[in-house]
Amino acid sequence: MALRQRALKTIFVEIAAFMTETDFVPSAYLEEKEAGSTVWKAPSNIALVKYWGKKENQIPANPSVSFTLQASCTETRLEYTRLEKESPDFSFDLLFEGAPKESFKPKISTFLSRVENYLPFLRKYHFTIETSNSFPHSSGIASSASGMAALALCLMDLEKELDPKMEMDFFYRKASFLARLGSGSACRSIKGGIVQWGRHKDIENSSDLYGIPYPYPVHPVFEQYHDTILLVHEGEKQVSSTLGHDLMHNHPFAKQRFEQAGKNLKALQPVFTDGNLVEFISLVESEALSLHAMMMSSMPYFMLMKPNTLEIINKIWEYRNASKTHVCFTLDAGANVHVLYPENEKDQVLQFIKDELVAYCQNGQYICDRIGFGAKKL
Ligand code: DP6
Repeated sequence: MALRQRALKTIFVEIAAFMTETDFVPSAYLEEKEAGSTVWKAPSNIALVKYWGKKENQIPANPSVSFTLQASCTETRLEYTRLEKESPDFSFDLLFEGAPKESFKPKISTFLSRVENYLPFLRKYHFTIETSNSFPHSSGIASSASGMAALALCLMDLEKELDPKMEMDFFYRKASFLARLGSGSACRSIKGGIVQWGRHKDIENSSDLYGIPYPYPVHPVFEQYHDTILLVHEGEKQVSSTLGHDLMHNHPFAKQRFEQAGKNLKALQPVFTDGNLVEFISLVESEALSLHAMMMSSMPYFMLMKPNTLEIINKIWEYRNASKTHVCFTLDAGANVHVLYPENEKDQVLQFIKDELVAYCQNGQYICDRIGFGAKKL
């Protein structure tokens, strides 16, 4: 790399490390755009080190890291038309899976008001937002990560029309920044592979404001990891993630939990590099159970696992011992189980899932997913 290029790269990396909220407030746009449309598809992600607890403005209480998925995703089409005069409210229609969905509108309004400072054109347009998920709506799979990521990318696309000189690095970083304001974990659904979010002193360029592609060498075993999502329980969760995060304020174990997440993230660094799956399994399963332990020890306490969640976990442990494979589980904020395993064990583990685990899924439903490449413009 030429000396000048290298110097520029260093400067850019350093700027990225110190980006603050104000760096995402644009100066006056050079272009105007009357009308147009854009479509983005964004994936869901599964956290290995969990984000649970937050401060004001969607700042995480601890850093987290996730695998970006591939099959579980949201596709969003944004159509925009410039209004004759600025609207006092946000002007938008929302269609979910082809039909108007009034009940989703408050969440979108909240998102738009949180990002307005960074996208000052929002009241100048009427938007039609059409969105759909690749997974069944009632599956209990959180669509907020993929949904907010897809919408943030659509809005960035419009901003790029108004500011065509915008660098693509900045485009994706700001998309992650905006997505975070919609739903924290959504900032990890822009880029592919392994994504890290939240300031950690030992992870260079890590930020509370946006997710970054994991910045250290990753062993090839993690390039093709599988995640089969077992749908244990359909329907509304008893306690939303947002409420769960809130219960980490004044939680008796909050301090220890936030420290544990930081330590686990650091411990994963050599694991990601060396491909040590035994260590990977113990960190990932411990994170999943620690997350649910926080729920059970909140006040008020609650439990999102169901009897079948525990049945599945026990079956996985038994099978792993007997087969000497590297299958393990993780959980998100719900009863579903994410079964993780490497590519070279896929035939054997998938057979085990079909033979022994699918019986515990609601209506036998499961989704074969795997680590993916990030969001795409269609
Ligand atoms: C358990 O990102 O859904 O999945 O920021 O309130 O929208 P909000 O919460 P959300 O929380 C995700 C919690 C989790 C862990 C994780 O994905 O890191």
